[in-house]
Amino acid sequence: MKDLRGLILSGGKGTRLRPITHTSAKQLVPVANKPVLFYGIEAMAAAGIREIGIIIAPETGEEIREVAGDGSQFGVEITYILQDEPLGLAHAVLTAEPFLGDAPFVMYLGDNLLQGGMLDLVDAFRSNEPDALILLTPVDDPENYGVAELNGDGSVTRLVEKPKEPATDLALVGVYMFTPGIHDAARAIRPSRRGELEITDAIQHLVDSGRRVEPHVVRGWWKDTGRLDDMLEANRLILDAIEPHIEGELIDSTVDGRVIVEAGATLIRATVRGPAVIGAGTRLTDCYVGPYTAIDAGCEVQNAEVEHSILLAGSSVRNLDGRMESSLLGRNVKIHRDARQPRAHRFMVGDNSEIGIP
Ligand code: TTP
Repeated sequence: MKDLRGLILSGGKGTRLRPITHTSAKQLVPVANKPVLFYGIEAMAAAGIREIGIIIAPETGEEIREVAGDGSQFGVEITYILQDEPLGLAHAVLTAEPFLGDAPFVMYLGDNLLQGGMLDLVDAFRSNEPDALILLTPVDDPENYGVAELNGDGSVTRLVEKPKEPATDLALVGVYMFTPGIHDAARAIRPSRRGELEITDAIQHLVDSGRRVEPHVVRGWWKDTGRLDDMLEANRLILDAIEPHIEGELIDSTVDGRVIVEAGATLIRATVRGPAVIGAGTRLTDCYVGPYTAIDAGCEVQNAEVEHSILLAGSSVRNLDGRMESSLLGRNVKIHRDARQPRAHRFMVGDNSEIGIP
């Protein structure tokens, strides 16, 4: 088999993660203080893939290009591929055809996280040489996913995108392996009711033309971080496995469990209960940071309690009465109690924000 190439899809609209995605790409939201996208690039690099194409959208492409660069920081070579409009995953494949040529490739959704990487899958793909290999995982709510139906012998017979009455609980995970036949399949299909060229339809086309589509049920966890709760859950899963280390400065502070305090962070009379990560230059004063919290660089938490949350760079939380939890703060967000009278809530929030007050 020719050398595998990688294709990471980092375009799309990200409507389910607004307002974060009004100003930034969802693939760059940090999970345990590292952009989601980097986990995919690193998994590809670890599986020996050297040439990676990244699909970008006009609105967020520049930012992704700046952060991921030419790939040298991962030991890979990155080519950026502009998709003018998010017309579907199979449309993204067609957009990447000039880059992919006749190479077999791994396609990875840039907002997905797959525990355990993809080495096993790449090995299975190389040795079994199917026309396509899809990854499946049992889920509780298959009606929200692409769902696979299998034959008695384990081969794929049918794929349905978000079925009203799912025949199985096997959801398609956002990692796929294809041979070049997928390009003709993507050309042969028509847009779905939601107006997208669906990758499930293209794979179904392969099945219907007698091509061999092999399923693999993933052993570890898999997360699509496209919604807030999933993003927090992914953060929880990744933080559960971090290697603790303290490089910042602790003054009269307590740190318990799996905690990373990055260089330049300062904790003053703070308690951090892991798993948690505190970014470079962040300052925690007279506060409590609870489990499953990732605080990015240059943040400030003072006289407040924060738990099970993600704070992007430059944000601050000060003087709160209650605990802040299960929250995602964008960059440079300020949340604080205001001493001014009258005692009222004051907000300045962008479109599609969500604020819960007890
Ligand atoms: P989705 O999460 O299915 O789509 P989306 O990003 O438009 O999000 P939402 O449904 O919240 O509006 O996309 C999965 C991944 O694939 C994600 O990283 C974006 C990417 N993508 C593309 O690159 N091009 C596309 O045409 C589409 C639909 C998605």
